[in-house]
Amino acid sequence: MQTINRLDSLRDNIAALRAENKRIALVPTMGALHAGHMALVEAAKKSADAVVVSIFVNPTQFGPNEDLDAYPRTLESDSAMLVDAVVDVLWAPHAATVYPQGFVTKIQVGGPSEGYDGAARPGHFDGVALVVAKLFNQVQPDVALFGEKDFQQLAVIRQMAKDLDFGLEIMGIPIVRDADGLALSSRNSYLSANERQAALALPRALEKAAGNIRAGGDISSITQAASVGMLAAGFGRVDYFALVDAVTLEPLLVYDGRPARLLAAAKIGKTRLIDNLAI
Ligand code: PAF
Repeated sequence: MQTINRLDSLRDNIAALRAENKRIALVPTMGALHAGHMALVEAAKKSADAVVVSIFVNPTQFGPNEDLDAYPRTLESDSAMLVDAVVDVLWAPHAATVYPQGFVTKIQVGGPSEGYDGAARPGHFDGVALVVAKLFNQVQPDVALFGEKDFQQLAVIRQMAKDLDFGLEIMGIPIVRDADGLALSSRNSYLSANERQAALALPRALEKAAGNIRAGGDISSITQAASVGMLAAGFGRVDYFALVDAVTLEPLLVYDGRPARLLAAAKIGKTRLIDNLAI
C-alpha cells in the first residue's frame, strides 16, 4: 500500500492506475477504522480494480462545540488494517493540503441536508459536501462507497454528486452492528461500560418502532413512544426519531409502503449516537 499525503504524488499515482485501465474505488473515512469501514473496503475491492482509502478528520464538518479535538486519531493502527486488507493507496492529506490558506469556497446542498442532523448540527453537511467534493476531484474515482449508518449523509452526497455532475457511482453499504445490535461507530469508543449497555435502547427502539409501523400503527404515537423509552433507558436527549422517505428524506406521517427509513439521533452522556433502519 502506498501512503500518500501530497496532492502531486496522489495525482501521479492515480494517473498510473488509469494508464493501466484500472477502475478506481474511493472509500472516504475520518480514520479510527472499525469493521464497518472494513466492510466498505471489502465492497470496494469487489467493485473496482484499485482501492483508495482516504483518512482525513475534516474540520469543516464539526461545529464549534463538537468533538474535533477529541475525535480519535489512530493513523498507525488504521494503516496496518488497510495493509492487511490489501488496499492500494492510503490518501492521508494534512489539513493545509485540503484547506490551504486563502481557501474560501463553500458548498451547500439543500433538500436532504435539511432537518434531522442538518438541524441538530448546523453547517455539518456543508462541511461534508465540501470535503467529499474535494476528495472526488482529488482521487477522481469511478465509484465511491459510504456507510448507510450515516444515512442522511449518504442522501446528501448522492444529491450533490448528481447536481454537480460528478459522474461517478455512489454505493451505500449496509450498517455493521455488534452482536448485541449497536451500530459500529468511531464514537462508540467514548462510551463508558454503563453507557454502552444503555445505548442498546437505540437499536431496540428502532426495531420495535419498525415492527409497529409495519403492523399499521400511528406513526407519531410510535415515534414519540420510542423517544420516551430511550429517555427512560438512560439517554439524556433525543434529537429526532422520525420516519422519512428513503430518497428525499421528507418526513412521513403515514406509512404508504414506499421505501422508507426510520432515522434517530440521541445523546447518552457526552456522546451523540445516530442509527437508522429500513422499513
Ligand atoms: O462519514 C465520514 O467518515 C465523513 O463524514 C466523511 C464522509 C469521510 C467526510 O469527512
